[in-house]
Amino acid sequence: MIRVRKIAHASYEMPDLDKQIEYYIEILGLTLVELEKDAAYLGSTVDHHSVVLRRGDQAKCARIGFQIGPDDDLAEFEKQVQSKGIKTERKKDPEPTISDVVMFEDPKGTVMEVFKRGEFAGPRFQAKGIVPHKLGHVAFHVTEVKKVTDFYCDVLGFRVSDWMGDFFSFLRCGPDHHTINLMETGSNRHFHTAFELRDWGHLQTACDYLSLHGYKLLWGPGRHGIGHNLFAYHRSPNGLITELFAELDRMNEELGYFEPRPWHRDRPQRPKVWEKDPSASNLWGILPGEEMMK
Ligand SMILES: [Fe+2]
Repeated sequence: MIRVRKIAHASYEMPDLDKQIEYYIEILGLTLVELEKDAAYLGSTVDHHSVVLRRGDQAKCARIGFQIGPDDDLAEFEKQVQSKGIKTERKKDPEPTISDVVMFEDPKGTVMEVFKRGEFAGPRFQAKGIVPHKLGHVAFHVTEVKKVTDFYCDVLGFRVSDWMGDFFSFLRCGPDHHTINLMETGSNRHFHTAFELRDWGHLQTACDYLSLHGYKLLWGPGRHGIGHNLFAYHRSPNGLITELFAELDRMNEELGYFEPRPWHRDRPQRPKVWEKDPSASNLWGILPGEEMMK
């Protein structure tokens, strides 16, 4: 099958674009690459944009962009999606630097935008703000975790990296431990969007920078059990949660285990079902407050 290889961008809707644009520029340190009447494109890597902001009634993650490989055929990929009984739409030049896209909905209504990256036209990394290395993953609350997990694996070619019990799946489409994670909680909505930082020092600088600008942490810093990433969560101006992380597990696909690290309990650390235990959430022991689940 043709598998998506990388998350390219996440698109959000919200009533107030200005505050959110300012947050991404001033706090996260992304560049505003293009501003249209009702859409803003922001990025900081070889991709033209990693985040798209559009005007909408309420804050939500409406779409996610995924890249297929340079030798993959988009028409073949579309046929593969249709063969699962899913309706697709093909669009030419839907966004700057994306010339051809296949669009369809996942079972909870988020639009998937799958394309081939033809043109590398991203802004340079900024010198001010947090300046993440990349968009890492998007996590969702879902009503039917099994169904949505199967969709990402069967239609987009994701692999399961870990489960927490039978209610929280972590899925990868490249070497990173997870690019999509899905937690069954009784509603379908955005949980958090995560950006990768360099290391623990970068995370400390980021937490101080957030605090200096009036952003309080919701949870962290800590080290997750599943994925083993260092993490810190805060809420962005539109109300959606941002995670900053570093040291996420990376899979050696040929060998079937994650690159060994001193903090791993399993030797080697392979994909598995984790018990619903506090250490699966935070090896350092502090659990999230209610604010994280709002
Ligand atoms: Fe996360």
